[in-house]
Amino acid sequence: MPKLSAIKPMPVLLSEAHAEGEHELKRALGPMNLITLGIGAVIGAGIFVLTGQAAAIHAGPAVSLSFVLAGITCTFAGLCYAEFAALIPIAGSAYTYGYATLGEFVAWMIGWDLVLEYGFGAATVASGWSGYLVSLLQDFHIHLPPQFTTTTGDLLYQYQGRWMPAVAVPAGTNLAGLPHVTGIFNLVAFVAILLVSVVLAIGIEESANFNSAMVMVKLSVVGIFLVIGTAYLIHHPHIAKMNWHPFIPPAEGPGKYGWGGITAGAASIFFAYIGFDAVSTAAQEAKNPQRDMPIGILGTLVICTLLYIAVSTVLTGMVSYRELNVADPIAVGIDVTGIAWGSILVKIGAVFGLATVMLVMLLAQSRIFYSMSRDGLLWKWAGKIHPRFRTPYISTLVVGFIVAFLPAVLPIDRLAELVNMGTLLAFAIVSAGVWILRRRMPDLHRPFKTPWVPLVPFLGIVTALYLIWALPMLTKEVVVIWLVVGLAIYFTYGVRHSKVQRALGTNRK
Ligand code: ALA
Repeated sequence: MPKLSAIKPMPVLLSEAHAEGEHELKRALGPMNLITLGIGAVIGAGIFVLTGQAAAIHAGPAVSLSFVLAGITCTFAGLCYAEFAALIPIAGSAYTYGYATLGEFVAWMIGWDLVLEYGFGAATVASGWSGYLVSLLQDFHIHLPPQFTTTTGDLLYQYQGRWMPAVAVPAGTNLAGLPHVTGIFNLVAFVAILLVSVVLAIGIEESANFNSAMVMVKLSVVGIFLVIGTAYLIHHPHIAKMNWHPFIPPAEGPGKYGWGGITAGAASIFFAYIGFDAVSTAAQEAKNPQRDMPIGILGTLVICTLLYIAVSTVLTGMVSYRELNVADPIAVGIDVTGIAWGSILVKIGAVFGLATVMLVMLLAQSRIFYSMSRDGLLWKWAGKIHPRFRTPYISTLVVGFIVAFLPAVLPIDRLAELVNMGTLLAFAIVSAGVWILRRRMPDLHRPFKTPWVPLVPFLGIVTALYLIWALPMLTKEVVVIWLVVGLAIYFTYGVRHSKVQRALGTNRK
């Protein structure tokens, strides 16, 4: 009988973490690479799209407080991830931490759950990316066949010579009177995921360099927005005063303005923070993981939180929050300054910015499968390393190929909710894991220690569960079905090939 609660022994984990050799990943990343990787994964659709909606629908100018709140929630989980990533620097991230603390069965389920965060995360962002790219190309009068630029069944309308979704058509326009097409397959998003997967398969250094270059572009665009915006606010203090007042608009319903709106805003812009934990999946590719993992994870969180607060404060000063429920709020912000090239600049930033999010999410996904395969819980091919590139190339390409279909056929908001749920589950389990391991093995040498244990892990669990509770029922049902599929794979393959079970003699035929 297999022992579902079998734990992967700490000495085994530590020896794997420090192993070197031709079957290992290449250790090429320093602290700056890790922070850039983190920023690569984090700054994306959240800030470029969701900020405006969160301000308009939920929090008003106090959306900056929503960012503070969501940032605090992520900090609890981030501190727990930092402790684990320094202690067990293995590519499997939450999956491996679960294996060390909660047993094989829970670990497998987390590994499977992380597909929702990383695989579906990359898909969600690919969907947003295709929207920005198509719009940018249209600015240069390049028109792709519209049926292949949006999700199956989505409607696109032709307005003033451009194809766009209904939200982008100016309010008051009679949609029924406009030419429209129905999406067949989002080929743009499909190809984007395939291209990113090929870059990832070619090498970690190449991927990191590609990522760093694109992160610089997106940070520059965010920086330019902040400079232009701040200058505008300094020259038009009366506009800023008017737009920021009242800072917390009176409540108009549940989750709309008032303090309730700030919390609802935090739940919706939680997506903007997703990805800092992806740094931990690069642990086996870090030169000095014990020191650099906490720097990478927490550094990413601090930088992104500060940028988010700054961007949302400036944006809501420039434009009334009521006008921000649009697909490109940052571009709308720049437009009020009258700078003609502003919105093209923002689109370029978004195209580069979202590409890095896809890159790091897919990187993380293939590393999780690599770790699971190395443990015998997934098929051998998923852990195969390319002799020259030293990347898990088969897993990278197979994952890429399958993930590429998701944005092609599924709507972005459904995908995003699944990503939120998958991530929050992982946050809750990692927080619980830190607490459990502290009790079980208090004397272990921990290069980084989460402060105030058990308070911080406890708050990590409670806040994650609270946000899960706030998600739609349909999302929860889909996640349950997803986990049942995982269960089936575990019992038909994983448990029979598990190396830990074999060592215990529980899965001998
Ligand atoms: N945090 C990432 C984004 O906002 C997922 O795109």
